[in-house]
Amino acid sequence: RPEPPRRSGGHGRPLREPGVTPGARGKFVTLEGIDGAGKSTHVAFLADRMRARGHAVVTTREPGGTPTGEALRQLLLHEPMDHDTETLLMFAARREHVLRVIGPALARGDWVLCDRFTDATWAYQGGGHGVDGGRIAWLEQWVHGDCRPDLTILFDVPLPVSRERLERASAEGRRLDKFEREGDGFPERVRAVYLARSRAEPARFRVVDSTRPQEAVRADLARIVEAL
Ligand code: TYD
Repeated sequence: RPEPPRRSGGHGRPLREPGVTPGARGKFVTLEGIDGAGKSTHVAFLADRMRARGHAVVTTREPGGTPTGEALRQLLLHEPMDHDTETLLMFAARREHVLRVIGPALARGDWVLCDRFTDATWAYQGGGHGVDGGRIAWLEQWVHGDCRPDLTILFDVPLPVSRERLERASAEGRRLDKFEREGDGFPERVRAVYLARSRAEPARFRVVDSTRPQEAVRADLARIVEAL
C-alpha cells in the first residue's frame, strides 16, 4: 500500500496555521453515537457550558460544515451509492471542513464542538458497511493527519431504544435518511464499533448512557465539560 501523501493544506499550504503555539490551540470535542442516541439534542447545551467557562465555541457537524460539505451531505444521506464512494465522499467533505473551519478555529484558540467526525466513518462505513479498515486509516491520515479530537462523547443506547426513537420521529413526519433506514444488523454493527473504539481509547472517550432522562444526561455532560 502506498504511503499517504505528505500533509498540506492544498497549494502547498501547511495544514496547521504557522506560528501557533501549542498552548493556544483550542480543544476539539466530537459527539458520536448510533442514530436515535439523542446526541444532537445536547449540542446547544454543551456549547453553552463551554462558553460559560470563557471559551469561544464553534459548533458544526459532519458530513457538512462547509458549503461543499453540506452539498455532499445531501448526496450522502439520500442517494444510494457504492460503499467506497460513500467513504471517499465523507472524507472529501471532511477535508474541506478541517481546512476551512476546524483547523482555523483551533488555531485561533476557539473550541470546536463537532457533531460526528471520523469515528463515525469507522463505525458506519467500516462496521456498518464493511469498508476495509486499512483504507479508512489511510484516508484518515491523509485528510486530517494529527488534527484529531481531544475528547469524544459517545452517546450510547441499546438498539431497541434507538429503534423506538426513530420510529417515533418517523411517525411524527420526519423523513428518515439512508442510514436511519438500514436494517440487517447495520445499527448493531455500528454500535459495536463505537463501543470497541471507546474501550481502545479510554483517555479520549466519555461514554454517556443516553437512555436516561435528559436532565441526568446533562448533569453528566456538565461534569465532563468542567473536567476538560
Ligand atoms: P446525524 O448526525 O444523525 O444527523 P441528524 O441528527 O440530523 O439526523 O446524520 C448523519 C448521518 O451520517 C448519520 O446517519 C451517520 C452518517 N455518517 C456516516 O455514515 N459516516 C460519517 O463519517 C459521518 C460523519 C456520518
